[in-house]
Amino acid sequence: MAVPIELSVDLAPERPGGLRLRNPVMIASGTFGYDGYGRGMGIAPGAPLGELGAVLPKTITRHAREGNPEPRWFPASFREGLAAGETTLLNSIGLTNPGIKAAMSELAPQWQASEANIVMSMAAESPEQWEEMASFTRGVAGFAAIELNLSCPNVDDGAMFSHHPRLTEAAVAGVRRQTDLPIWAKLSPNVPDIADIACAAVGAGADALTISNTIPALHIDIDTGAPTLGAGAGGLSGPALRPITMALVQRAAQAVDAPIIGVGGVMDGRHAAEYLMAGATAVQVGSANLADLNAPFRILAELEQLLLQWEVRSVADIIGRGRGHG
Ligand SMILES: Cc1cc2nc3c(=O)[nH]c(=O)nc-3n(C[C@H](O)[C@H](O)[C@H](O)COP(=O)(O)O)c2cc1C
Repeated sequence: MAVPIELSVDLAPERPGGLRLRNPVMIASGTFGYDGYGRGMGIAPGAPLGELGAVLPKTITRHAREGNPEPRWFPASFREGLAAGETTLLNSIGLTNPGIKAAMSELAPQWQASEANIVMSMAAESPEQWEEMASFTRGVAGFAAIELNLSCPNVDDGAMFSHHPRLTEAAVAGVRRQTDLPIWAKLSPNVPDIADIACAAVGAGADALTISNTIPALHIDIDTGAPTLGAGAGGLSGPALRPITMALVQRAAQAVDAPIIGVGGVMDGRHAAEYLMAGATAVQVGSANLADLNAPFRILAELEQLLLQWEVRSVADIIGRGRGHG
């Protein structure tokens, strides 16, 4: 009988006890169901979400946010757009969320009751607020780690946390002071050298890096001459993002020892394998999931099939190399 492939990966190997995921495929923040919090995907007990490595609900901020004006999507339907061959997907949701207090009292119990391995995503507006938000998570059950969405501006100077090593360090260090949970730092793609930011995040206590968030992008409606999205510019995700993020993952993996989570345009199992070969330990699925809620499960099955075909014994055998022979 064939020996089963070892799919599990550790996303916080330096932390006591680590953070072992049953496999390397997760749902990216903001793309968990139609509302970012699981609508349509069945957060209820019994849903197959426990089959995935982890699920990241939409980013939580200090206070509730309504989000940006409509339209928030280009094309209006990612599913129809992708089916028609569109590779450029834009969104501008604006971090619609109930705020950290409501999230801890209302969402965390649902997460705890679900089969899913939840990693909470949060964002803050100042180094002090990062620390304050982390303090609100203390003693709350329902999530295994915290991902810091660092693609958000610091109110003091308007600079994006993930654009500056100093701000990245301040955010991560503040959260690190308040929690023993594993911390994943989610970085932005549009920086001169991702290695500088990666080193700052890991140096301040991040256990893994998620690379990356969307790229600022604009679509103009030529009938009106105005931006298509209600907020003006938005974030580019999907297939067009993949080769860019792939290069960032490889660069960061060469710069730090911490595990990297590749995210950007993973549409099938081959893309997941590409990220692992570029040096990622795991992947997150975003836009593909919005086009088809079954996508992460399909991608996991396809990845497993590839590993079987290649006769590798474990996911670790292809991380940073080709098919186990590197
Ligand atoms: C509709 C939408 C909402 C998103 N919301 C969030 C969010 O709340 N927090 C976050 O860290 N990333 C958010 N993202 C970014 C994704 O998590 C992911 O980093 C990005 O889309 C690239 O992956 P993809 O090409 O697989 O979509 C969002 C992406 C989309 C498409």
